Amino acid sequence: MAQILLCGARGMLGRRLHELLASGHRVVATELFEQPGIRALDITDAKSVEAMVEELRPDWIVNAAAYTAVDGAESDAASAHAVNVDGPQNLARALAPTGGRLLHVSTDFVFRGDKEEPYVEDDPTGAVGVYAKSKEEGERRVRQVLPESHAIVRIAWLYGEDGGNFVQTMLRLAGERERLGVVDDQRGTPTYTRDAAAAMLKIMDAGILGTVHAANQGTTTWCGLAREALRLAGSTTTVEAIRTEDYPTAAPRPKNSALRNQVLERTIGDHMRPWQEALAAYIS
Ligand SMILES: NC(=O)c1ccc[n+]([C@@H]2O[C@H](COP(=O)([O-])OP(=O)(O)OC[C@H]3O[C@@H](n4cnc5c(N)ncnc54)[C@H](OP(=O)(O)O)[C@@H]3O)[C@@H](O)[C@H]2O)c1
Repeated sequence: MAQILLCGARGMLGRRLHELLASGHRVVATELFEQPGIRALDITDAKSVEAMVEELRPDWIVNAAAYTAVDGAESDAASAHAVNVDGPQNLARALAPTGGRLLHVSTDFVFRGDKEEPYVEDDPTGAVGVYAKSKEEGERRVRQVLPESHAIVRIAWLYGEDGGNFVQTMLRLAGERERLGVVDDQRGTPTYTRDAAAAMLKIMDAGILGTVHAANQGTTTWCGLAREALRLAGSTTTVEAIRTEDYPTAAPRPKNSALRNQVLERTIGDHMRPWQEALAAYIS
């Protein structure tokens, strides 16, 4: 049974991680503000991070805390940098003298998006946009400070029970409209929070280190994801394919950020289930 310090425990992924990790390990869950069963820890505050690591001496820190407003970051680069770059660096620095390991959650958006095939772990990154660049730099700091004792786990197109997400938005809009226009020229790998959290537990239990992709299998577009979600939900709303130019956003998005879990496949033979299966489990 390992001692785990979980950061960002009330986020969409953090909640699932908390639930899962607590079933087999001693977990101290933290969030920006104190809540019942959750201690306060601002990962941008190096002194507080150091004090908590000193007190708990965790075997692992699991960092699910992040600044995740992809478009908001374009006009708030300082916040994105503080949470996504300084935050993981603070965690890594505090852990370095203790021998503990850091599982840091990262994103498919670190890739530029011009590869035809899904990205594997050692493909070069090339983030575009403020949020993506901050996550890319966060990864770099973690590798720099803890070269031998990190697992950077990249996930993608996340949805789940807690927290606003694309699938939830599509289901809500389908209840209000007969037609939806959804972008059909960006490809990715939709991933269910429960499956991502389960993969992270396996990564820790197996002691897999380095960069690891943990996304459901297969790829689709946002339009493909919306159509499948509405089909599974029994909705009669029509989803029309539109182009990126027809749906302008503050932050640029990669054309293709699909992930292939090459490390998980090679190390523990793990094949995360296809995205359609995971989506069906979520919607049911
Ligand atoms: N969502 C996606 O589609 C997606 C895709 C790929 C990768 N990821 C990555 O997956 C991870 C989890 O994402 P998520 O969707 O679960 O995010 P989320 O729901 O936004 O959760 C992030 C959590 O971090 C907390 N937080 C923010 N600043 C903090 C700070 N300074 N100190 C401590 N906690 C802080 C947030 O608290 P507040 O709510 O109070 O701010 C929130 O509870 C992130 O690393 C993200 O980059 C997400």
